[in-house]
Parts: sequence; structure tokens; C-alpha cells
Amino acid sequence: MTAPSDWQRDLIREVGAAEAGGERPRPATPPAPARTPAPARTPGPAQPAAAPVPARSPDPAQPAPRSPAPPRTPDPAATPGRDLAPRSSGEVQRPASAPEAAPVADPRLLLALGSPRHGDPLARRAGAGLRRLAAPAAKEAGDAARLAEAVQQPVTTGRVLAVTSLRGGAGKSTVAALLTRTYAHYRHDPVLGLEADAALGTLPLRLGARTVRWTVGDLADVLTPETRLTDVTGYLVQLEEGGWLLPASRGQVGNPLAGRTYYTVALALRRHFGVTVVDCDSLPGQVARTALGTAHARVLVAPATAEGVHGTRQVLDWLLGLLPAARENTVVVLNATSPDATLDPATARAHLGEPGVPVVLLPYDRHLGQGGPVHTDHLGEAARGTALRLAAEALGRAVRTR
Ligand SMILES: Nc1ncnc2c1ncn2[C@@H]1O[C@H](COP(=O)(O)OP(=O)(O)OP(=O)(O)O)[C@@H](O)[C@H]1O
Ligand SMILES: [Mg+2]
Repeated sequence: MTAPSDWQRDLIREVGAAEAGGERPRPATPPAPARTPAPARTPGPAQPAAAPVPARSPDPAQPAPRSPAPPRTPDPAATPGRDLAPRSSGEVQRPASAPEAAPVADPRLLLALGSPRHGDPLARRAGAGLRRLAAPAAKEAGDAARLAEAVQQPVTTGRVLAVTSLRGGAGKSTVAALLTRTYAHYRHDPVLGLEADAALGTLPLRLGARTVRWTVGDLADVLTPETRLTDVTGYLVQLEEGGWLLPASRGQVGNPLAGRTYYTVALALRRHFGVTVVDCDSLPGQVARTALGTAHARVLVAPATAEGVHGTRQVLDWLLGLLPAARENTVVVLNATSPDATLDPATARAHLGEPGVPVVLLPYDRHLGQGGPVHTDHLGEAARGTALRLAAEALGRAVRTR
């Protein structure tokens, strides 16, 4: 195992280089020359949290988010990926044979899960409905509209948000899925969920993908910064509830993902997507360190337990000590993964509190706790509100990051 001092040194180098605009981890292919950024886009009218997906008018300068060219099965007769033929700009190098599509989970298990539960019990939903009837919640509606507007804000170049935590099981994939769903719901430009945890990560399952084929590792040799969106989407999973997914594995134990592989692919993809949400491995994993150092915003997930908050506090101290500017673009999620959590949220918040770093509380939600695909319309009111607030906080910071 890597000694802590080593990963801290690595991160100092990676983060320092990224912040200084100097050398980043070098991608396998040279970055494209400076490109004209996609023009800032005007968001549609703000939608309240539970509103249906707004009708979107296509932006002539950007491919439509929900209807890019239909995913294509890359040409099986093309040149082998590791034996690359000379590239012309924009040309995609395709591996000799497309990998077999692999099911994300045994369908019998998904059946055994039963139908999705609602995040809030029926009695609470009925109570909330009655309260709304008695006194329409103008303030709540106003807040939701303001947050929705923040989530829809235009970006001049694609923003990358890295989600990580100190330990496994903190809720990284759940939070990454919530963010991907929220941005895909509200935004007009394409949104990508990028899995960067090759250890049999759960992002594809959480985002409702049924099968996966191409992985981050496959695409490292294939994509260049010049690859067109219409070619890129042939390698991605188009999600039924909006947005795109690139998984890190085909559900088999394989090689860990290298930080450089992640960076090569993230760099090639990010200009096609208004927002890319990265589901990282846990710290001090190599990908998490690379992603922390190169993302426009960082989301640290802290389990709402004494040890989870204590550990995350240490990570924050370490991160802000190394890189004071990280307070400008870090958000902490205090996540209750169990209904039996007893840690007082106010105390936990105060313990994690750091000027400029918001702490957003994600409550225990029955729908999230059930496992399986996350459906926005099944989330409890509190979890849905938190997802929107978190998406607004993280994107606001990412947009301000140069
Ligand atoms: N707010 C929540 N409410 C209910 N259950 C939750 C919540 N957040 C996470 N969970 C549950 O906690 C478990 C761990 O979550 P998740 O898989 O997202 O963690 P992770 O950090 O991605 O784990 P890993 O390190 O293994 O990738 C899952 O079973 C998930 O359903
Ligand atoms: Mg995970």
C-alpha cells in the first residue's frame, strides 16, 4: 500500500500543477490546441424541483442533449485499438472488435429487489400534500426556482465535478447518481456520469443502465480531444432518464484504473458535456487524487457517523492545508446511509464547518437505501431538495473555477 506521505506528495504535485495552470498529469495523447469555447448558453426558465423535464429548444451551436446521433456500434472491422493506425483530426480509432455487452446485474436480482419504494412513507407524503394545500409554500417554491436556475446556468467550457470520500460505502456513487440525474433533468446541454472506480462500481446500476460495453480503459486509446460528439456517443450508454454514462468496468474484477488513463479520457470527453460528474474511488486512491487535482469542483462525501465526520474533517484539514484555494470549490455532503444514524447533524455540521465550504445534509432516504436504480420521482422530498441544493452549490463553484 502506498504510504500516506507518498500520496500526499503526489497530490501536492497534481493539485499544485492544476491550480497553477501548469503541468497536469500528462494525457497519453497531446491536448488539442486552444479551441473556441462553446458559446454560453441561455438557460430555460427555472423549474421547481418536482417539475417535469422542461421542453428544450435546440441550441444551434451545440448538439441537442437528448437526441445526439443514435449510439452506434463501432465498426468491428476497424483497426485494433492497441495497433493504432495514423489518425486524422476527428477520426476515431476503433478497437478491432467491440467488447461484449455485459449485464450490469443479474436480472433475477433486480426482479428480487421488487418495485421501487418511495423515499417518503405514504403518511408523510399525504401530510406534506395537506400542508401545501393549507398554505402554499411560496418560500420553498421560490428557493427551488432559484436553485434550479443555478443548476441551469450556462457554462463556457465543460465543467468536471469529482465526487469522492475517505472511505468506501460513504455514498459516493449514490451522490454521483443524484447529481447526474439532477443536471440531466435541468440542463439543456449533454451531461455525463463518468465512473472512475474500476472496483466493480455501482454507478451504472444506480443510473439504470442495463448493459455496459465500453469502459474508461477501452477509450483511453481511442478518444482524442478532437473526437466529435457524434462519435463519442457511440461508446456511451444513453440513460433513459437523461444524460450519458461511461462505466469503468464490465462488472468483472479487473485491473485498477490508472490516474493517467482517467485523465486522458476525462480530458477528451469534458468539452462535449456541459457537466461531467465523476464517481471516483475512495481516497487515497490514485484516480481520486488525480480527479481532486484536476476537477473544477470537489464533492467530499462524509458518512453521518462519528468516525465518518472525524475522518472527513482530517481530509478537509489536509486538503485546505495543502491547497487553501480548495475552499473555493469544495462542497461536503453529510450523508445518512442508515436510518439508525444518531449523530446530531448540527454538531456534525459544526465539526465539518469551514468558511466557504458548504456542508449539505443528505438524509436517509428509503428509495436510496433500497439500492438499485435511482429514480428521481421516487426520492423523498428532503433527498430531492438536497440533490438540487448540492447540484447548485457544486456547479456554482465549478463555474467560478478557472
Ligand atoms: N442518503 C442515503 N439514504 C439511504 N441509503 C443510502 C444513502 N446514501 C447511500 N446509501 C446506501 O449506502 C450504501 C453505500 O452507498 P454507495 O454505494 O453510494 O457508496 P460508495 O461510497 O459509492 O461505496 P464504494 O466505496 O463501495 O464505491 C448503498 O447501499 C446505498 O444504497
Ligand atoms: Mg461507489
